[in-house]
Amino acid sequence: MSQEPKVIYLKDYTVPSFLIESTELRFELFEEETIVHAELKVKRNPACEKSAASLELFGHEELELIELTIDGAALDEKSVQREGELLILSSLPETFVLKSSTRIHPETNTALEGLYKSDGMFCTQCEAEGFRRITFFPDRPDVMSVFRTTVEADKKRYPVLLSNGNPVKTGENAEGRHWVTWEDPFPKPAYLFALVAGDLKCIEDSFTTMSGREVKLVIYAEEKDLDKLDYAMLSLQKSMKWDEEVYGREYDLDIYMIVAVDFFNMGAMENKGLNIFNTSCVLANPKTTTDASFQRVEGVVAHEYFHNWSGNRVTCRDWFQLSLKEGFTVFRDAEFSADMNSRTVKRVEDVSLLRTAQFAEDAGPMAHPIRPDSFIEISNFYTMTVYEKGAEVVRMIHTLLGPELFRKGSDLYFERHDGQAVTTEDFVQAMEDASGKDLGQFRAWYHQAGTPELHITDEFDGQKEEYRLTVRQTCPATPGQDKKTPFQIPLSVGLLDQEGNELRLTNGEYSEVLEVTEAEQTFVFKGINAKPVPSLLRGFSAPVKLHYAYQRDELMFLMANDTDGFSRWDAAQKLGVDIMQELIGGYSVDRPMALDSRLIAAYRAVLEADGLDKAMVSKVLTLPSQAYLSELSEVIDVDAIHNVREFIRKKLAFELEPLFLKRYQENNLEVDYSPDADSIARRSLKNLCLSYLVATQKTEYLQLAKEQYAQSDNMTDMQSALALVAHSDDKVAGAELLDDFYAQWKDESLVVNLWLSIQAADPSEGALARVESLMHHPAFDAKNPNKLRSLISVFCAQNPVNFHAKDGSGYQFLADRIIELNAQNPQIASRMLTPLTRWKKYAADRQVLMRAQLERIHQCDDLSKDVFEVVSKSLV
Ligand code: ARG
Ligand code: ZN
Repeated sequence: MSQEPKVIYLKDYTVPSFLIESTELRFELFEEETIVHAELKVKRNPACEKSAASLELFGHEELELIELTIDGAALDEKSVQREGELLILSSLPETFVLKSSTRIHPETNTALEGLYKSDGMFCTQCEAEGFRRITFFPDRPDVMSVFRTTVEADKKRYPVLLSNGNPVKTGENAEGRHWVTWEDPFPKPAYLFALVAGDLKCIEDSFTTMSGREVKLVIYAEEKDLDKLDYAMLSLQKSMKWDEEVYGREYDLDIYMIVAVDFFNMGAMENKGLNIFNTSCVLANPKTTTDASFQRVEGVVAHEYFHNWSGNRVTCRDWFQLSLKEGFTVFRDAEFSADMNSRTVKRVEDVSLLRTAQFAEDAGPMAHPIRPDSFIEISNFYTMTVYEKGAEVVRMIHTLLGPELFRKGSDLYFERHDGQAVTTEDFVQAMEDASGKDLGQFRAWYHQAGTPELHITDEFDGQKEEYRLTVRQTCPATPGQDKKTPFQIPLSVGLLDQEGNELRLTNGEYSEVLEVTEAEQTFVFKGINAKPVPSLLRGFSAPVKLHYAYQRDELMFLMANDTDGFSRWDAAQKLGVDIMQELIGGYSVDRPMALDSRLIAAYRAVLEADGLDKAMVSKVLTLPSQAYLSELSEVIDVDAIHNVREFIRKKLAFELEPLFLKRYQENNLEVDYSPDADSIARRSLKNLCLSYLVATQKTEYLQLAKEQYAQSDNMTDMQSALALVAHSDDKVAGAELLDDFYAQWKDESLVVNLWLSIQAADPSEGALARVESLMHHPAFDAKNPNKLRSLISVFCAQNPVNFHAKDGSGYQFLADRIIELNAQNPQIASRMLTPLTRWKKYAADRQVLMRAQLERIHQCDDLSKDVFEVVSKSLV
């Protein structure tokens, strides 16, 4: 690294000195270069106090400035300064026209930021700061302008030319070139700009908005994927309808386009009127797509669509405010998915993810508040914290206000700030103004990092007929924040009597939201005549860790009787965690393992019960994950966690074998595939039962899995069966199926990713060698982020026993990949680093090895800002 990268602070924010009234762009796309002509109408910002201020344009070091004029004249040398990413223009008039021509090279852009090529087509990714890789521009979200964009390219290679807004003109040039001009009437920041040029096919449909306007909906993909677009189209129509019904938000342009691209750093991008999607988040077809991916497609299509209001119409003032649009939009898409499918299942899935990945982030070296106050590289802050914890914070506001006042608040927010670039504070203020609810203390959630912990004790007073819950809250120190002030925490509770009936609470209902605001506080319930069992943090009403000394019998009681579906599942998790932790503790001292029969009894009861929601049954019967147990560990003992979990799975499998088989058979129906919630639930229960059966290692069940593989007509059943056989001890059978699968699906890139992942996650010995050899397989492409994630990241995150091999080979392997990727694709390199950053959670011998690899990366020359920030913060 030639120079230490600069830290950007929120406290240094100043308003832009100039505003852009309109932006006219002309792209000449060629095979060996692209020329970008820009014409900006610029005026001084009346809100900027410095009257002689200069204009700061951002332009990546690699941009070649061919020409620059102001009102038609070249600038004199003194008034133009190029410093790193900045082009500073001074001695400027009040208003002027700034013209530039720039040469860029999308054809060699491997960072996949700005304009780049994916499988022969041009596309863009500008959020957060990718536009500066396209042309010189005040690339900051509070500078908004209308865009008119002309795209010119070879007609044969690139018949489809797209940009934001509506197509207004088209024509042909000499030499087989053609062009299209697009106009977007809504002022937007540059990060929402998009361009696509390629040989694309599409499906078309329409949506009639609540005011009766017809909107054309178009989804583009490569021809071979045309049969995988219907589900995204349906999801888009459902999203549009839902946002009208639930938020009163109508779409505003005449056309809405989605384009699927194979090379993409993230999931998808909400560019105005022209969303660009990772193929993994838009293509869906029963033959090639698993249930989980169907649901992801539905969720991501909704997410990007909802951004049209929460993100585009009202955008962020600066990148510290990222959670303003992401937290709110994740909350919106989660509620949408809950409404379309099973609410409880969606909640269970989101909470599982939050308290493994987000809690781990909050406890690690990169911990940051949902509104950070500094960063080196903003790409590093597209995190579980900003997105998922951000959504939980919005959910808490929803809980505290109730649905009606929350809707009043969101209406006010959209109305007050339409067309503006605002802050998280503006969001909270609108909620406060509309509801009259004081959210003063609540704001701590925006600027304090770390996961709060609630320590709850209770007391029953028979004489007074009182039940008291005492809640003490703490929050661990995080980088730069030693001391925290108490949070305002909505704690949803219920009380169950000995018979399992719910008791009426102070509010006259069966559930009540206690508002925890003090460091320690006691809540009294009157008229209670026997000690109840408390059901705490119902629906996961706050993103906190809860400690209450439940007896195992009480957890079984809650599993059977709690009326809150989430809490029933959570009781099962707590029971599993408690039992597993005891065995994990004994593992290192060689205590023989024995399974508490209560877990078997609890599982049996769930398997025998009739009429339970199948999705919930399969969630309840899934043991706490290795990742969750790791997060809960003081010191992570990888082998103990893995072996204990496998021991219990096997034991349960033998004890409950007939029930698992019965449930398997009942749910193994020959019906046409449908991705609705009930069918997904049925398949998930069936495949869970199969996984327990295979855990017995009886050949008949391996045979059953092979049959399911051979007979399945959908990817969900096929890949579940394949993974079970591939991960079984019968490596010959596993290899045979893997070969068969590859032969069948080698032309379906997303299916090949499943094939890579299954192998990367195989816990048996020798995984690293298998992964290394797969890197040379034609199925792998080190330039494609989806391939990297499927093979490398899955190995590092989902194969802990192999990644954490005692000799440090896994760590060295990952560090080698990061060092290679640092130059090629800094965003992906930095993301893939995550497993190494958690070194402090492991025992001393592994700490040394992990740290050594971080040091090795740290010492490399030319570290990107992305990797530098994560590595240097991790080494502190
Ligand atoms: N705004 C996009 C979304 O959440 C994600 C863009 C991510 N970009 C990035 N550079 N990390 O839908
Ligand atoms: Zn988003």
